[in-house]
Amino acid sequence: MIILGIETSCDETAASIISADKTGLKALSNTVSSQVKLHSKWGGVVPNLAAREHLKNIIPVLKTAFAEAGKKPREIDLIAVTQGPGLIPALLIGADAARILSYVWKKPLLGIHHIEGHIYANFIFDKIGGISNFEFRISNFPILCLVVSGGHTQLILMKNHLNYEIVGQTLDDAAGEAFDKVARILGLGYPGGPIVAQMATKIKNHKSKIKINLPRPMINSNNLNFSFSGLKTAVLYKVKELQKINKDILNTKYQILNTICHEFQQAVIDVLISKTIKAAKKYNPKTIMLAGGVSANQELRKQLGKSIKSNLQNTKYQIPDTRYSIDNAAMIAAAGYFRWQNMSPAQRKKSFNNWKILQADANLKLH
Ligand code: KG4
Ligand code: ZN
Repeated sequence: MIILGIETSCDETAASIISADKTGLKALSNTVSSQVKLHSKWGGVVPNLAAREHLKNIIPVLKTAFAEAGKKPREIDLIAVTQGPGLIPALLIGADAARILSYVWKKPLLGIHHIEGHIYANFIFDKIGGISNFEFRISNFPILCLVVSGGHTQLILMKNHLNYEIVGQTLDDAAGEAFDKVARILGLGYPGGPIVAQMATKIKNHKSKIKINLPRPMINSNNLNFSFSGLKTAVLYKVKELQKINKDILNTKYQILNTICHEFQQAVIDVLISKTIKAAKKYNPKTIMLAGGVSANQELRKQLGKSIKSNLQNTKYQIPDTRYSIDNAAMIAAAGYFRWQNMSPAQRKKSFNNWKILQADANLKLH
């Protein structure tokens, strides 16, 4: 089965073609046109600017995805597009492109939840981590998935495919959002995650000469929820306090910038790991999965793996290839495949008419 995926929920215009056979899901192409440079001037994503860029890029991105995959439109069996959540002007471009292609090419169309896409990025075959057996990945339920992106921080329990129970989530900012806001406070630009992570690596062996202690919000609370807004404010107060002593303290010539990035990143990681282990002890999953843009963070990947190994000996650990961590369309196509597998012949037939009814939804719920 050949699936075309389209994703335009935020600031990446993405298209991908994946193939699904007995050996697993393979991305034949994974084209992403990023608007990061454009939005960095504004310190965040401007929805209408994003939509204008998507409109400009969607056809070239689709063309590249087909060319790289060596596939023709007639070879496509299914079109999967991000339906929501996300920025509505941005979502509309991808959704309308998919609707038009479904109508013109007479292909079935499925709207996919963006987070479902992030989760199913873990099921794409060409990945690292030593787990490359498709059977493994389709038979290790229950799965506990830690979803960490710019808009979401959730612990999701999956008893089976497409079955989601949110057992914990952030009460305010998402983890990625906190990275972005802290980068802004520190004058490091947008998006913050990769820059903060890069600065943090400059603290060798996790040992800084300067001591900065940030809180680990809700780490000892009795539930599985998170809160990152106070941590961001703690960084702001710390910076203000330090600037009273030296106005130029954030200059890269001082090690303090690296120390703050390192301590902030570690605070986020500590909380994420602690809650994931707590959730695992409660729900006994066979597999723990990581998903979302923040899953590209090398320290989080490494430290979560270590913690699972020492706390939960019989639990498998699954992480997506970093190409499929941040927003992409291969993950949307992968989720589309599993949706399709779960449909009756009548539902599949009906999906040829979805171009008439599919609507982008900024607040789409995961179910
Ligand atoms: O999933 P994603 O690409 O878009 C959303 O669905 O939100 O996630 C984007 C988020 C941004 O907040 C970005 O700063 C964060 O993921 N991110 C990272 C890293 N790479 C991206 N955060 C920490 N470390 C990284 N290496
Ligand atoms: Zn995302």
